Amino acid sequence: MGTIRMRKLMLFFAFLTITGSVAAITLDEDYMQSMEDRQKSLSANIGIQNAKGANEDAKAMMEMFADVSDYYVQKGNAQDAVDWSNKSRELGSVIIKYLAVKDFDNATVSATTMAKTCKDCHRLYKKDK
Ligand code: HEC
Repeated sequence: MGTIRMRKLMLFFAFLTITGSVAAITLDEDYMQSMEDRQKSLSANIGIQNAKGANEDAKAMMEMFADVSDYYVQKGNAQDAVDWSNKSRELGSVIIKYLAVKDFDNATVSATTMAKTCKDCHRLYKKDK
């Protein structure tokens, strides 16, 4: 029994390691919609000075941008999309730093820059809209 459970665990971690290096997302409307929801939640939480909530949103967005970056790295030939994703992820960590010292003004500025970066990528990569 014990060894089987151990093996299952090892398989699970092997699986995590493999998927960790591969873009596990499909960048589609659903994915982007959850990104939009997070972004709205982030600016709302900064607005009402809810540092804890905003912190969670910023963290979630950093994870999403890491996936979006992986997605475009894999796709290839999309360096600017990779750069915008990485820039957004960095802005996430900047926002978290401001939240830690309750500097909501600067957190707002960084969140606004992040929103501009969404649009930069859309201008080039989001077709038909
Ligand atoms: C690196 C590129 C990139 C970044 C950065 C990016 N997006 Fe997108 N976004 C896309 C692409 C590509 C699509 C089109 C996806 C599709 O329709 O399959 C899209 C589509 C969307 C849509 C439309 C979904 C629909 O229902 O049609 C929304 C909303 C959206 N993005 C929100 C955001 C928000 C909010 C951010 C920033 C927090 C963001 N995106 C950042 C590439 C990006």
